[in-house]
Amino acid sequence: MNNLLKFPKGFFWGAATSAHQVEGNNHNDWTEWEKANAERLAKESQSRYAHWMKNWSDIKLKAQNPKNYISGKAADHYNRFREDFDIAKSLGHNAHRFSIEWSRIEPEEGKFDEKEIEHYREVIKALRERGLEPFVTLWHWTMPVWFTNNGGFEKRENIKYFVRFCDRVVSELKSEVKFWIVLNEPNIYSGMSYIRGEWPPQKKSYLMFLRVFSNLIEAYNHVYDAIHNINPEVSVGIAQSVNYFEGWIAPVVRWFWVNRFLNRINNHLDFIGVNYYYRRLIRGFNFDAGEGQRTDMGWEIHPEGIYNALKGLSGYHKPIYITENGIADARDAKREKFIGEHLRWLARALGEGVDIRGYFHWSLLDNFEWDKGFWPRFGLVEIDYKTLERKIRPSGYVYAKIAKNNAIENDDLNKSNVL
Ligand code: BGC
Repeated sequence: MNNLLKFPKGFFWGAATSAHQVEGNNHNDWTEWEKANAERLAKESQSRYAHWMKNWSDIKLKAQNPKNYISGKAADHYNRFREDFDIAKSLGHNAHRFSIEWSRIEPEEGKFDEKEIEHYREVIKALRERGLEPFVTLWHWTMPVWFTNNGGFEKRENIKYFVRFCDRVVSELKSEVKFWIVLNEPNIYSGMSYIRGEWPPQKKSYLMFLRVFSNLIEAYNHVYDAIHNINPEVSVGIAQSVNYFEGWIAPVVRWFWVNRFLNRINNHLDFIGVNYYYRRLIRGFNFDAGEGQRTDMGWEIHPEGIYNALKGLSGYHKPIYITENGIADARDAKREKFIGEHLRWLARALGEGVDIRGYFHWSLLDNFEWDKGFWPRFGLVEIDYKTLERKIRPSGYVYAKIAKNNAIENDDLNKSNVL
């Protein structure tokens, strides 16, 4: 009896991070916003979370402390990346996704910092030395202060600055990187910043949202061309949020949320990166979490959603990488099952012909979760923020076994009894 579910040879197994969330000591539009909003976020936390969050008593102290909302030294990954990649290697990973912080490379308009370029060259070298294939994100939401002071992506004429930054980075690192992710989740960014008005620059304007959205499309297409001019051999794509929607108007919402951006960059797309976290049920005009178990952040755990999302993308006929999938779970009580079940549904999509080539768990390390701060714990590796000590969580070892075997045991499959 075959008791292993095998993944294709050469499948990439890894984890993902982003610069602002783990590096520490950045100076960008988010750090400015954190300083201005930490007190407010701490004050509002009770009214935002206490009424629905089952684990509110666990996180209350942290969520009510303004320091929780300052990224500060984060996981100090900027200085400890070698140690962190040693851990990733020991856990059987053969790939790693991270992002390059624009504000480090170009702290002032037009002034590029060679030292910082060298830093990322070292990061890539450290990955390669450990047998980890780098997947490099060029924009994971944070931007230099000079750029956002100048209107950021609200202005079409600013696109050229982003293209110039990407062009410079890719020219410097061209022989060392095969996979470039130009943008991370433009839909979440523009939605949170311009529709919900919760993230910097906190402007609630549908018109502005549309403008930013279409400027990001244009920026993406320009950067794609720029990268291929430098090196036609590499693969260039996007990490798109494809959280799964169900309910009466779901096909329209899915089109708006997932396909609209992809359709406009479809002829500039070597692969699709999929970030999948949860399902939302649309009831009336509300978007609710369904009846399934919840993460610490209240997101519904719905492994089948990754299968539905993947099947929904198969029509693009592009290679797919899962560029993020993970769970806020401080006690590490649900992560093992979460990983096993999502991978099994992924395997089913693979079995039905969807061209999936890798899986990056979010995240390698506990990190700074944007406006929620440090209390959500996404890491395969726990960070003690006082000592910065790293400790591999039990689920990190379970994922390691899957990565090392390039397979899931039937045990994992039987647990949730789906296939
Ligand atoms: C983002 C990450 C974030 C994760 C969990 C994704 O939307 O790309 O930066 O930490 O979700 O919320």
